[in-house]
Amino acid sequence: MSDTSHTGYQVLARKYRPATFADLIGQDAMVRTLKNAFEADRIAQAFMLTGIRGTGKTTTARIIAKGLNCIGVDGTGGPTTDPCGLCQNCVAITEGRHVDVMEMDAASNTGVQNIRDAIIETVSYRAAQARYKIFIIDEVHMLSTSAFNALLKTLEEPPAHVKFLFATTEIRKVPVTVLSRCQRFDLRRIEPEVMIAHLQKVAAQENAQIAEDALALITRAAEGSVRDAMSLLDQAIAHGAGETTATQVRAMLGLADRGRVLDLFEAIMGGDAAGALAELGGQYADGADPVAGAARSGGNHPLVERDQDHARCRRRPHHRPRRTHARPVAWPTACRCVR
Ligand SMILES: Nc1ncnc2c1ncn2[C@@H]1O[C@H](COP(=O)(O)OP(=O)(O)OP(=O)(O)O)[C@@H](O)[C@H]1O
Ligand SMILES: [Mg+2]
Ligand SMILES: [Zn+2]
Repeated sequence: MSDTSHTGYQVLARKYRPATFADLIGQDAMVRTLKNAFEADRIAQAFMLTGIRGTGKTTTARIIAKGLNCIGVDGTGGPTTDPCGLCQNCVAITEGRHVDVMEMDAASNTGVQNIRDAIIETVSYRAAQARYKIFIIDEVHMLSTSAFNALLKTLEEPPAHVKFLFATTEIRKVPVTVLSRCQRFDLRRIEPEVMIAHLQKVAAQENAQIAEDALALITRAAEGSVRDAMSLLDQAIAHGAGETTATQVRAMLGLADRGRVLDLFEAIMGGDAAGALAELGGQYADGADPVAGAARSGGNHPLVERDQDHARCRRRPHHRPRRTHARPVAWPTACRCVR
């Protein structure tokens, strides 16, 4: 973790990127499996890390890369899930400048030629300094079909000194032929209690005071993504002078607080008309379109049932519901059935 006073402000999400598995929260099952594999010397040739945004895919890939190449402070250590962070390999990988650890973003290198140049042509050469030559490919689902095909053979039987670490948010877009050659880990959304504890720890390290219910709001808005939660915490700390309160966080979240759609839904389903109207009014005042929001997240929300919308529209008494609307419309102002 770097010193902010020399490098300018670094956002919390980057400042607190876990350097070891001990710091990685909420992914215990994956960490256990990896530890067993390393201890039994059964390390797969390719890993596929998948999960929603900001749950630790890139972080895990970097920790594995360090673990594979760590030589320990005395220079004699073997592969470990507990990289020392101090040896030349660990330091270079952390700083993103290790010659044997290639980090590629598939989103900007989608073509087959990129894969040929960066991987296929180079795998046969041994690692220059480290034990393994490691290819980290982020957003791997963005590779073109021909790029995937070009990779298949190398992925099937890579030289012993080569390891692949893939990360993706959209596993369904990765061909099964590629998946079947990888050991797959599904990173989980972080449980609320774990997230709140993590945010508390970070806030304490930052000497920031923030109320527990404010952290609960941030956690809910983050929907299980640590990066989202850290970015919101960053913003919340900047917002409040003294202790940051839940009210401040609620105002800050405004439109970003998708959990409020659920509040509205709960009030409606619980028959709490006054509560529902108050929530609706609040969301409207914040600039939200709660009805459209509910439609996107739920679909069957009673307020947005398409046919009901039209059934209640009085502008055309003989109107028959049309099912061709691209998305549900808010009644009565936005109803397009008059057309
Ligand atoms: N499991 C975790 N434990 C602790 N911090 C985490 C975890 N996951 C993510 N973070 C925080 O979020 C930041 C981003 O994490 P990372 O880059 O690993 O996410 P990602 O899963 O690769 O996301 P994306 O899909 O957007 O690329 C990290 O720097 C760290 O601060
Ligand atoms: Mg990533
Ligand atoms: Zn090391």
